[in-house]
Amino acid sequence: MLKGRNLIDPSDFTREEFREIFDLAHQIVANPEKFNKSCEGKILATLFYEPSTRTRFSFESAMLRLGGQIIGFSEPNSSSVAKGESIADTIRTIECYADVAVMRHPKEGAPRVASRYVKMPLINAGDGGHQHPTQTLTDILTIERLKGSVENRIYGFCGDLKFGRTVHSLIKFLSNYEGVRFILISPEELRLPEYIREEILKKHHIPFQEVEKMEPYMGELDFLYMTRVQRERFFNEEDYIRLKDRFILDREKMQHAGKETYILHPLPRVNEISPEVDDDPRAQYFSQAKNGMYVRMALILKLLGIY
Ligand code: CP
Repeated sequence: MLKGRNLIDPSDFTREEFREIFDLAHQIVANPEKFNKSCEGKILATLFYEPSTRTRFSFESAMLRLGGQIIGFSEPNSSSVAKGESIADTIRTIECYADVAVMRHPKEGAPRVASRYVKMPLINAGDGGHQHPTQTLTDILTIERLKGSVENRIYGFCGDLKFGRTVHSLIKFLSNYEGVRFILISPEELRLPEYIREEILKKHHIPFQEVEKMEPYMGELDFLYMTRVQRERFFNEEDYIRLKDRFILDREKMQHAGKETYILHPLPRVNEISPEVDDDPRAQYFSQAKNGMYVRMALILKLLGIY
């Protein structure tokens, strides 16, 4: 039963509960009009303490396409946060006006803390360098639409695996499935955090390799998940400049990829995928962004207990 629940971390839901969300998302993709009045009379609040394009707009579009309404802020200084209001007081107040809320915050754990103060469902839209569970919903719906299932696949992750919260959430989710293997491509300084290696990969006996080149591995991958180097999480600009262009996927490198190696990216991108790759049918990052809207429609419907 997902009604009234929070989604803060991929471990908040069971495999069966995620299955319910994906099954509904596939139904929405097939027949979106059927759902266009499902949330009439309901309000979604978006509280974005950090910039966003896809997550905020796709949540808002999802609610509007379900026939609901939206309120919120994309710039916290336009709210009473600028006067020093605490997260606890802000979220309690928002609960007076909305039925479900979405929060992005630069501090890891902030959405979890906020969720303790309210009864309405609260969704983590990204907390610092920690987790981004609805990007994982987006990624999994995309993987299922391209290949049918997530099991028995080789996933390459490339770029900033240290600060990339989308990578952390997706690896956490995929580690519950059979036959998955990871190729982790990054400079040494941007490797996956130790706690994910120890508490997720090693605990679940997931085979993985940590490497510093992409070309030798691209041919065997089912998916190559590219990521941006997260400038906003670096302590100094020099390190960012040294590392930011280490991996650039261009048309020449795509020749090393398999015929059905799909390229995903949570976006936004900076330089890590050359625009010349966009027309390649294996480049699926804009379809991925669209899937984010469908799967967020399914999530809203489930958390509100409408489906
Ligand atoms: N993928 C993602 O979270 O994008 P935004 O930062 O634009 O929301």
